[in-house]
Amino acid sequence: MTARRHLLGLEGLPRTELEQLLSRAHEYREGRVGGRHLSGRVVANVFYEPSTRTRSSFEVAAAGLGAHVLNWTVTGSSASKGETLVDTAKNIAALGVSVIIVRHQHSGAAALVARSVGCSVINAGDGQHEHPSQGLLDAYTLWRRWGGVLENKRVAIVGDILHSRVARSNLHALKALGVKLVFCGPPTLLPSHLSQLGVDVTTELDVALNGADAVMMLRIQKERASEALFPSAAEYHQRWGLTTARAAALKPEAVVLHPGPVNRGLELSPEVADGQRSLILEQVENGIAVRKAVLEAVS
Ligand code: CP
Repeated sequence: MTARRHLLGLEGLPRTELEQLLSRAHEYREGRVGGRHLSGRVVANVFYEPSTRTRSSFEVAAAGLGAHVLNWTVTGSSASKGETLVDTAKNIAALGVSVIIVRHQHSGAAALVARSVGCSVINAGDGQHEHPSQGLLDAYTLWRRWGGVLENKRVAIVGDILHSRVARSNLHALKALGVKLVFCGPPTLLPSHLSQLGVDVTTELDVALNGADAVMMLRIQKERASEALFPSAAEYHQRWGLTTARAAALKPEAVVLHPGPVNRGLELSPEVADGQRSLILEQVENGIAVRKAVLEAVS
């Protein structure tokens, strides 16, 4: 597997490196490799924003590789006394940490940390920029479901594209892996430059779902929206939500993904979230194997 110092985003990652990461994740997922590559090393989770899946998943992955995990959060830390991100990261690195996994509300925060410390840095989500390990675990979940074949599959990515770092990481990874992408959402949540990136763009959900092999529903990020970007939750669900009726009209083998946390009844109905097509919990399960592969690549 190609070694790299940091993983700050998936933009520009060669297809061969993406495929190596997916293959290595698969080896972890299938229990074909169990090395404690991080034995005696310390991995730090530095999360300035809340997380259920990513932080826990990195913790389980790092512990599975034999690392000691240091979990840092804003609450109870000296960030609440005004210590900067860079000072915090430098002090955590000075503890002898090998890898800092950072989540921050500002785009570029992980790159800033990477420029400031001597250890490896993994971006666990920076503002509206990227969430590379999520993009990889989404790609892996589809790769695994489809027997390692992503080329020419059609994936619809639906919802709050504007604020979504998950959408950006998926765009870079899935496009590089040969997937045909269609992005869909209200006009106010679709970045204007999307159509220049070699993907289809539509505001009509039924157009996006037509022929889709997979549908990735994105969370409405109320915390990042500075104004009302659609009239009401009920109207959003009616026009851009994956309702039970819409899910029933998908191709028989089509699958549904969501990075979580899910706003039930807004992006998709509870019946779809918990239904036969849903890979939502499998995404979480696969995240551990993918993060083991990522940790190994940067260590
Ligand atoms: N998908 C994701 O990033 O979830 P968390 O915010 O719970 O980490």
